[in-house]
Amino acid sequence: MEPLHPGSIVILDFGGQYAHLIGNRVRRLGAYAEVRLAETPVNELTGAAGIILSGGPQSVYEAGSPQADPRIFELGIPVLGICYGLHWIAHALGGEVKPGKVKEYGSADIKIIKPDSLLFKGVPQITNVWMSHGDEVTRLPAGFEHTAQSGTCALAAFENVDRRIFAAQFHLEVTHSVHGMDMLRNFVGLCKAVPWSMDGFAERIAHDLRKEVGDKKVFMLVSGGVDSTVAFTLLNKALGPERVQGLLVDTGLMRKDEVKLIRRAMDELGIRNLQIEDASDEFFAELDGVFDPEEKRRKIGDTFLAVQRRVSIAIEKGDDAWLLGQGTIYPDTIETGGTKHADHIKTHHNRVAAIQQMIEEGRVIEPLKELYKDEVRMLGEELGLPKELVWRHPFPGPGLGVRILCAASPSMATTTDPEILSRIDHLLPIAHAALPVRSVGVQGDGRTYRHAVALFSHHSCRVTPEQRRLATDVPNAISLYNRVLLCTSHSFPPEFAFSPGAITRERADLLREADAIVDEEIRQADLYGEIWQFPVVLLPFGIMRGGQSIVLRPVRSVDAMTAEAFMLPETVLQRITDRLMSLAGIECVFLDLTQKPPGTIEWE
Ligand code: XMP
Repeated sequence: MEPLHPGSIVILDFGGQYAHLIGNRVRRLGAYAEVRLAETPVNELTGAAGIILSGGPQSVYEAGSPQADPRIFELGIPVLGICYGLHWIAHALGGEVKPGKVKEYGSADIKIIKPDSLLFKGVPQITNVWMSHGDEVTRLPAGFEHTAQSGTCALAAFENVDRRIFAAQFHLEVTHSVHGMDMLRNFVGLCKAVPWSMDGFAERIAHDLRKEVGDKKVFMLVSGGVDSTVAFTLLNKALGPERVQGLLVDTGLMRKDEVKLIRRAMDELGIRNLQIEDASDEFFAELDGVFDPEEKRRKIGDTFLAVQRRVSIAIEKGDDAWLLGQGTIYPDTIETGGTKHADHIKTHHNRVAAIQQMIEEGRVIEPLKELYKDEVRMLGEELGLPKELVWRHPFPGPGLGVRILCAASPSMATTTDPEILSRIDHLLPIAHAALPVRSVGVQGDGRTYRHAVALFSHHSCRVTPEQRRLATDVPNAISLYNRVLLCTSHSFPPEFAFSPGAITRERADLLREADAIVDEEIRQADLYGEIWQFPVVLLPFGIMRGGQSIVLRPVRSVDAMTAEAFMLPETVLQRITDRLMSLAGIECVFLDLTQKPPGTIEWE
């Protein structure tokens, strides 16, 4: 491990998805931040300006749960614990942590009961924050003062001003915590951190990259998305074009006209070392009969590698002179369970087994792997990439492959549990229907694979406050469902007809058309910049046999770690629905109203 940059704020990573996000936020506040493993011994932390203890999925009182070095409290620098970090502070200093009576996920109001708390300077007394926890602190350690409470969690924040130790149960680092950045700014202000700025960021990364690559060459797979394009451009600038070779594999799962667009952008930049290979036949052949989401990702990842091996004979021979470059960014690594304590939510294709092995052999280079999307974009701009490309919506590496839902047979959401049935009656006395397919979600740092429930109403393109409330309440209360949709094409639940399907060229072509319609409409409505990402998903059922459905999944987000369903204006939603319904083969359209968590951005 490289020695600590003196004067940086250190984030100790207890797993989950939070540590690098906190790092990202601290940097945005202009202070130097570094992420280290929770167990880092205190002698490796000298010189730090402050310590932030991240959240994490485990329980502090369980054997084997991650523990930091308690001597960090003797360093005399400010310490902030968030969620698990708060539990650990209480646990380490003699307080008590227990499983809470109710698990609390989602937004909650807290009330600040110590208005002069340094952490809450400038924050209103009642403020909305993001909660995601099962445990809670039931007794404070000696010398600590209670500073905030929520409806379900009495000890939502506490502090010891003299020792400059602060703790918050809620995730002040996520954008859903309305004044979260203010609280973090207050904490960062107490630390004498060295300043961090974006200027020269590209040069700093290029410097590290040159050190890491040494005298080798890099072969880079370019997917067409922002990340791999930025990584490829960076490699070209850092190492020079003679030491870099790019390959864009047309998987048949890309967006309409995407390949043309990238070729043009690269031409304009004068980057000529990008080869384009149409491998769509091979991809469709490999995906024939594959239904499982993870299996699909594996196949796509492996086929990528097979094509790349075929094209690059040097790598096939295991030539040591070449490394494999990837545009992996930080959020891709955590959902795969890439950090030590994180749960496995989905395997990103650049983390499939074959790649993992190459990573272990030191043959992979990922210049962006510690960055968040906003940082990648700033870097892209600094590298001189056109704004239009840098600010394009993120697109997953496996492309439309993760947006074509596959199943051999319908999956029904049934239960005989009287408690669940009564909750369904209570929460959903309105027209609704469970869809006959399941999708991936995330709840309390863990993966779910559950059904979506669709709501129906006469004004089917107008989202009401009640429907939005149900999108939060239903997945929280009913364990059968992890998503809530609004059907925008029908006022009453129709009889769904399931049509078994894997990924085929026909389905990809259909989804490509649907995706292009959505893209065009949101650009025309001037909403492209307001929406962070807009997956359009194809579901293997319609109303007549052979028909299919579309799910619209527009979200607002900052970094994909959490996301909020974007509320499309009624007129835009109506236009999109009408145009999609006129596509041959599309029989139903839904709008996904679910936040992340509990629904991930993609459906798989
Ligand atoms: P989720 O669906 O997990 O997505 O909320 C978070 C972000 O990651 C993208 N995503 C992927 N990107 N390979 C990728 O390169 C993948 O397998 C993959 N799955 C999801 C997703 O589009 C979103 O931006």
